[in-house]
Amino acid sequence: MSVPVEKRQKQRIVIAGGGSTYTAGIITMLLENNDVFPIESIKLYDNFAERQERVAKACEIIIRERLPQVKFSWTTDPVEAFTDVDFVMAQIRVGLFAMREQDEHIPFKHGCVGQETCGPGGIAYGLRTIGPLIEMIDYMEKYSPDAWMLNYSNPAAIVAEACRVLRPDARVINICDMPVCLEEIFARILGKKSRKEFDVRYYGLNHFGWWTQIRDHEGNDLMPELMAYVKEHGYEEHTPQGQHKESSWLETMRAAKDLYAMDPTVLWNTYLKYYLMAPETVAHSDPFYTRANEIMDRREKDTTEECERIVAAGTARDTWFASNEHAMFIVDLACALAFNTQERFLLIVPNNGAIENFSADAMVEIPCIVGKDGYEPLSVGKIPTFQKGLMEQQIASEKLAVEAWLEGSYQKLWQSFMMNKSVPSAKIAKDILDDMIEANKDYWPELH
Ligand code: G6P
Ligand code: MN
Repeated sequence: MSVPVEKRQKQRIVIAGGGSTYTAGIITMLLENNDVFPIESIKLYDNFAERQERVAKACEIIIRERLPQVKFSWTTDPVEAFTDVDFVMAQIRVGLFAMREQDEHIPFKHGCVGQETCGPGGIAYGLRTIGPLIEMIDYMEKYSPDAWMLNYSNPAAIVAEACRVLRPDARVINICDMPVCLEEIFARILGKKSRKEFDVRYYGLNHFGWWTQIRDHEGNDLMPELMAYVKEHGYEEHTPQGQHKESSWLETMRAAKDLYAMDPTVLWNTYLKYYLMAPETVAHSDPFYTRANEIMDRREKDTTEECERIVAAGTARDTWFASNEHAMFIVDLACALAFNTQERFLLIVPNNGAIENFSADAMVEIPCIVGKDGYEPLSVGKIPTFQKGLMEQQIASEKLAVEAWLEGSYQKLWQSFMMNKSVPSAKIAKDILDDMIEANKDYWPELH
């Protein structure tokens, strides 16, 4: 059905957000998968020259040692970046970790959840990201009109809604790795080699969804075994991987047990804890040392040091930068589009009736089949009142955020904060908003 491996043409990629802590891992993964997804060139693009260059110089060595035929370059010029590419892999973080710190600290100061993508922090981040992302889509459409953008920039829900409203026909696919990571955990709990040994049914919004079915390829139901485990342990496992080894993530994985109790007929995306367990999350957090601080002190520092070490040594043969298993979905998705694999992915797409009793114009996260012409959503059917109610409130909050950005409306942004289940009152919403406006003055449109 798909293009046979030996007939696959080489692909040209630009990674937008080249200076990211994830770039070296993604490049390593791309190189390792060159047999199924052959690469002609990789470009890095970032607006922060110095940060990108540090990563790029290390990546240059990695590529030279592992797959020297791949052309590699980096640039801060969008025209150069977006010209002659087949795929844009977009992972931008507008305002970097310093602004993530603000997104997390400000709500906490007012007794609310401070989180990268959920609640007021996520909304604030959304308002910073819409403009730069739309700008990148426009460059791509102008300089590589046949390219696809695989966007996993956060906050994915708000970014996806902005794409739907502002560039509905653009070749952009919004995707999140959280379901992938959790399915990898499910696979380990079930003693399977990988998530590719089963098919899932899932519905919701980004960072706001539920698994309703998990079956192996023979059609056997794997849910009972998995649920028996989750009831006792949540998603905590013996061999956590990558960032999920860190204590704040372990706590989130344990919280899945409490989420599961709220509706034991489904498995929950862990991000729902920020809405349904907001006070408990606040009580367990240090408002002055959040996840952003952890990352700046660890992942960012370690990545920077490793890049500098590689460059100083002139070799990357002994590097700890490794292909991140869960990041494989990016290559799988690119393969599906380039070579028509018709594989199934959870994507963030316009609902258009897929969830029968939910608004057509909502961006929902649901299974889709992906091939050469893009994606085809699978039908979900009717969803229960509990999930539908939660999703309606959350999508309203996300839509108001995008409308606020478009119209420069203070009122709508306040409503977006109020509408969010993680915020308990109108007054608190306003207090957070006023602090957020000050912190984001270099990034947000002016509100009136
Ligand atoms: C998951 C989510 C991402 C999020 C990341 C945060 O992978 O899907 O949307 O950005 O977690 O992880 P971090 O280690 O940066 O807190
Ligand atoms: Mn995500």
